[in-house]
Amino acid sequence: MKSLREYLSWAEEKCVAIGHFNISDSEGFKAVTETAHELNLPVIIGVSEGEREFIGLAEAVAMVKTIQNNNQPVFLNADHTYSIEKAKIAIDAGVDCIIIDAAEKSLEENTKLTKEIVDYAKSKNPKILVEGEIGFIGKSSNLLESLPEGVSVETQTDPKEALQFIKNTGIDLLAPSVGNVHGIVKTGNPKLNIERIKAIKDIVGIPLVLHGGSGITDDNFKKAIKAGIRIIHINTELRVAYKEGIREGLKSREVAPYKFLAEGVEEMKEVVKERLKLFNNL
Ligand code: G3H
Ligand code: ZN
Repeated sequence: MKSLREYLSWAEEKCVAIGHFNISDSEGFKAVTETAHELNLPVIIGVSEGEREFIGLAEAVAMVKTIQNNNQPVFLNADHTYSIEKAKIAIDAGVDCIIIDAAEKSLEENTKLTKEIVDYAKSKNPKILVEGEIGFIGKSSNLLESLPEGVSVETQTDPKEALQFIKNTGIDLLAPSVGNVHGIVKTGNPKLNIERIKAIKDIVGIPLVLHGGSGITDDNFKKAIKAGIRIIHINTELRVAYKEGIREGLKSREVAPYKFLAEGVEEMKEVVKERLKLFNNL
């Protein structure tokens, strides 16, 4: 099986993006991995600090390793990791990649924290990919009344600053702020700044990761991928689909979880399928 780094080169060559989907339980895992298998595509499973506390970090690692042993390209990402302690625990547990989220801190603090974790990660596992973030895009994969506080055009990533950040930290992947926000905004998510994506891509030379994929239009996604995005994160859309599916499942008198939860899995699979097809030009 190819490594995630190799799949990223493959994505660059084909000008596609690898889908990254957050999960918090085995139903989410099932929905994402079965859909990726049906479409014969690589996929990344994301578990944020809260999500991995719920599913269990060791359990998530074991589930992904089992599927990798069957030669299915599924990778595990320790998504949005805020502290050195939590980062070390995830790295030691054997995740394939990790995101250090210090985007809310000053650039100096962000650089220091990110570099420390890059050094630790590489000393433990030279193959692990480490992602850094600059530019705040909100923190909540939820349905939002308005744009998250602190997000504005001014917080979008500056290409030269991004290059310096990469040189100073040694990260493998960069999550920029380019008009994307975490969550679905009731009044509509902002449009992506495609020119900014291009400008960052031209200068940095490492794969770009688009967070906050929920609520972005298909056309905007296509332009972003063309401009250089190689991984796209989706969470809120999956959470909404799962909840709606379970609500339907609970309408029957059924008490077997594998029956009333199945509707939630099906709803999530639809989201994953549509997004994976779009990201991979299918
Ligand atoms: O890391 C997770 C994502 O960036 C998900 O964002 O909830 O807006 O899809 P989203
Ligand atoms: Zn994110």
